[in-house]
Amino acid sequence: MNNDLLHHAYDPEQFRQQGHQLIDRLADYLTQMQQEPHLAVLPWQSPEDKLYSWEADFDNSPQQNINQFFDRVLMESIHIHHPRYVGHQVSAPAPAAALAGLLSAFLNNGMAVYEMGPVSSAIERLVMKQIAHRIGYDTSGGGIMNSGGTLANLTAVLAARQIKTGHTTWQQGTHEQLALMVSEEAHYCVDRAVKIMGWGEAGIIRIPVNENYQMRTDQLEPYFQRAEQDGKKVIAVVASACSTSTGSYDNLEEIASFCRQHDLWLHVDGAHGAAAAFSEKYQSRVSGLSLADSITLDFHKMLMTPALTTGLLFKNESDSFATFSQQASYLLNEDEEDWANSGKRTVECTKRMMSVQVYTLLRTYGWKLWDENVTLLYDLAQRFAQLIRERPELTLAINPQANILCFRYAPSDVPDNLLSQLNAKIRQNMLEDGRFYMVQTQLKKEIFLRVTLMNPFTTESILSDLLDEIIRNGKELNFFYDRSS
Ligand SMILES: Cc1ncc(COP(=O)(O)O)c(C=O)c1O
Repeated sequence: MNNDLLHHAYDPEQFRQQGHQLIDRLADYLTQMQQEPHLAVLPWQSPEDKLYSWEADFDNSPQQNINQFFDRVLMESIHIHHPRYVGHQVSAPAPAAALAGLLSAFLNNGMAVYEMGPVSSAIERLVMKQIAHRIGYDTSGGGIMNSGGTLANLTAVLAARQIKTGHTTWQQGTHEQLALMVSEEAHYCVDRAVKIMGWGEAGIIRIPVNENYQMRTDQLEPYFQRAEQDGKKVIAVVASACSTSTGSYDNLEEIASFCRQHDLWLHVDGAHGAAAAFSEKYQSRVSGLSLADSITLDFHKMLMTPALTTGLLFKNESDSFATFSQQASYLLNEDEEDWANSGKRTVECTKRMMSVQVYTLLRTYGWKLWDENVTLLYDLAQRFAQLIRERPELTLAINPQANILCFRYAPSDVPDNLLSQLNAKIRQNMLEDGRFYMVQTQLKKEIFLRVTLMNPFTTESILSDLLDEIIRNGKELNFFYDRSS
């Protein structure tokens, strides 16, 4: 059999050459991004056109020039490191963490069992213990890592279900109508977790929010009482810290007190905002975080690692062993807890060596790096809010509590009923233009523009240009509406 291709695919010298070229290219790209290039943040093409152009590429395959392909991927992607990227909550990964990602991809130590990932398993244990301590858990605290906040939230509620139903549900199922309570502004993955567990729509009790889009804690008791009267067994509250749309932090201390009163599990979805715990200036945003039974924390959001890298922390680490447990024996025997074989506690079997990415940052820069990043982004959000307030054509939805801002173009001469349509069109025009990348969201059925400040190289002057561009677009569109009506 001729194995030429296989030898070629594993040729160390070719790898060295291609790797050097790629890293050089990425370093040049990063330099370019930091100098605020004139390049579009997102070189826009419709999905169909994009697919068509890659189909054409496929027809020319196979080609040996891998760097030409990498270069095309680079230039056609959305540029998260671009300082005018102010869109979704995805980090511009720090280069050291991206290098750790490459190492992880190459070594492929899958980690379900200790032998298949000795280093990353030990580092995962270490990192989770350190973070548990940092956020205020005592020595019982710890956790696991998995691929994404969505999966971590599901795993947390699975653990809650098992523990609050006397450790029987995993094995025997349940005929009770179980339910959890969550703010109506929570990320949609909480709703999905409930439906995946088979609790149906009755299993999710949506608590209304106040004018700052935070869960109304005064409504917890009446909603709980009503659920009980309806025959539901409420087992948990999921708090948002912070919410996705507006970056609003629920009052964790009040929610924790309610949970204590009714013996409910408190899970904090801190996928985005639990990172505030690392900022000396903003850690009060998550006061009461250590009262939670479990916490989701995405490192690939404000903590500068590539996706997906998520921690699921438990106040009592032994609870994490209950999630998929066939029996309660783990409670009786410390050895059974077996932290080193992480597949026992995660939905995933094989997973990436994500702990290495987190540890690379901690080991190289210490906790201070995250403090600097979160503080800078939250400070910038305050200054951005001020820039919005200074422009009478714009309205801020709420004063930002995090690095997420919702606002809209709403000059006094445009009727309220046109504002959603107008702002959606502004956002579409700007998406296709590509100079900035921001998103939109719906608040109380109205469309708002939404900015998340993720890049430490985004400046106040860039944000001022963004607002001018929004207003310019708004005026142009408004003129068009006026003439067409
Ligand atoms: C509050 C919150 N929870 C969960 C998620 C989902 O996280 P992931 O994308 O890591 O699955 C997000 C993502 O934006 C979020 O903002």
